[in-house]
Amino acid sequence: MKKIVVFAASSSSTSINKKLAEHAALQLEGVELVQLDLNDFEMPIFSVDKEKELGIPTEAKKFKAYLASADGLIISFAEHNGTFSSAFKNVFDWASRMERSMWLDIPMLAMATSPGGRGGKSVLDHVVNDFPHRGGNVVASFSLPFFAKNYSEAEGILDIELRETFGKAIEQFKKNLI
Ligand SMILES: Cc1cc2nc3c(=O)[nH]c(=O)nc-3n(C[C@H](O)[C@H](O)[C@H](O)COP(=O)(O)O)c2cc1C
Repeated sequence: MKKIVVFAASSSSTSINKKLAEHAALQLEGVELVQLDLNDFEMPIFSVDKEKELGIPTEAKKFKAYLASADGLIISFAEHNGTFSSAFKNVFDWASRMERSMWLDIPMLAMATSPGGRGGKSVLDHVVNDFPHRGGNVVASFSLPFFAKNYSEAEGILDIELRETFGKAIEQFKKNLI
């Protein structure tokens, strides 16, 4: 059975990106879902000095081990000031120090949602353009604007066009699960 690692790049306990990531994961059948919470990977703020002093923290090694165990990744990125949340960036920086490839060429569905109209487009564009330089294999992406208006727990994505685009991203991701 394929193992899919799912998480929101957010540390908020009420994360809308967590809701979107989990909703996407539930569209897959016959897979093992492993849901991560970035709060379980809290570490000192990365610095080369701390790295020299402490080495790579256990939490970063665990995070990387979860990635290495995955056949697919579903990540929904919170956008803070046009880029990653600090919580995600810290995990990313620490985990990137272990080997050359951060994302290990594992097929990834990259998403973002926000309360506003851009749907986390800045951070998502960055992921789509930049991750391939770090072993990222972003096979599908999806941005959901106006989360509160366009999503309900009971029905998922409400807007018809967005629901269709989401469905295509899910299909594209499924096709790429080797
Ligand atoms: C420090 C901070 C900066 C933010 N910057 C942006 C931003 O640049 N663009 C945006 O669309 N939303 C921004 N937001 C709003 C977030 O998109 C919103 O908090 C969203 O719920 C974050 O996703 P999450 O609930 O998954 O953590 C910001 C929020 C915070 C707390």
